[in-house]
Amino acid sequence: MKNQEIIFRKGSKVILRPLQESDIPLFQKWMNNPKVTHFLANVFPITFIDEKNWYESNSKSTKDRVILAIVDRKTKKLIGTMGMHNIDYISGVATTGSVIGDERYWGKGYGTEAKMLLLELAFNELNLRKLYSEVIVYNERSLAFSNKCGYKEEARLKDHHYKSGQYHDQVILSVFRSDWQDVWEKYSSENKIKIR
Ligand SMILES: CC(C)(COP(=O)(O)OP(=O)(O)OC[C@H]1O[C@@H](n2cnc3c(N)ncnc32)[C@H](O)[C@@H]1OP(=O)(O)O)[C@@H](O)C(=O)NCCC(=O)NCCS
Repeated sequence: MKNQEIIFRKGSKVILRPLQESDIPLFQKWMNNPKVTHFLANVFPITFIDEKNWYESNSKSTKDRVILAIVDRKTKKLIGTMGMHNIDYISGVATTGSVIGDERYWGKGYGTEAKMLLLELAFNELNLRKLYSEVIVYNERSLAFSNKCGYKEEARLKDHHYKSGQYHDQVILSVFRSDWQDVWEKYSSENKIKIR
């Protein structure tokens, strides 16, 4: 069976599946692309070995993170990656991060759907309570897609990131399960998403 046929979660636009070794070259390509890294903390070049090491540590089974590949459901093409990190089951919190590396897919709803599927897993299966995310203030697309998924601004770290010759604030956004539930009901019914 082709790995692309492995389906962990399916939406109307995307499939989320576990990482696979053949993802490494595209991940490396994206993580060196300044159009992508402009929105991330990454600054240094990423070698194949760096990416392979990242893959090897993040593809091992563990309960303190969930990292998935985002695949375009129609073309079966790998378009990005999304995950939950530092899962704390005592407090019920985790941090989330997302990259759609193929910029032709930006702003078309793929990120929103992938994040919705990840939040459904976090809240309805892992019994988490609150997820948070860190966004550089000029990343309006990321702020917009987070808001669509129910995240709200919780704090700002002043002049936290030095990017493109200037300091920029970091916005910390969070979403509580109680606030997300209605957003999910509406989103899943409008987009005819049925998980189970
Ligand atoms: C951030 C990211 C994951 C969002 O995924 P996406 O598929 O592009 O987002 P969506 O299309 O689902 O939602 C984006 C929303 O922002 C809006 N948007 C797009 N460009 C925008 C812009 N320049 N300013 C403000 N809003 C914008 C879109 O219209 C959309 O809202 P709408 O559906 O109500 O119209 C993706 O763009 C990405 O990976 N970018 C590069 C890396 C990155 O920024 N990662 C996140 C780091 S915190």
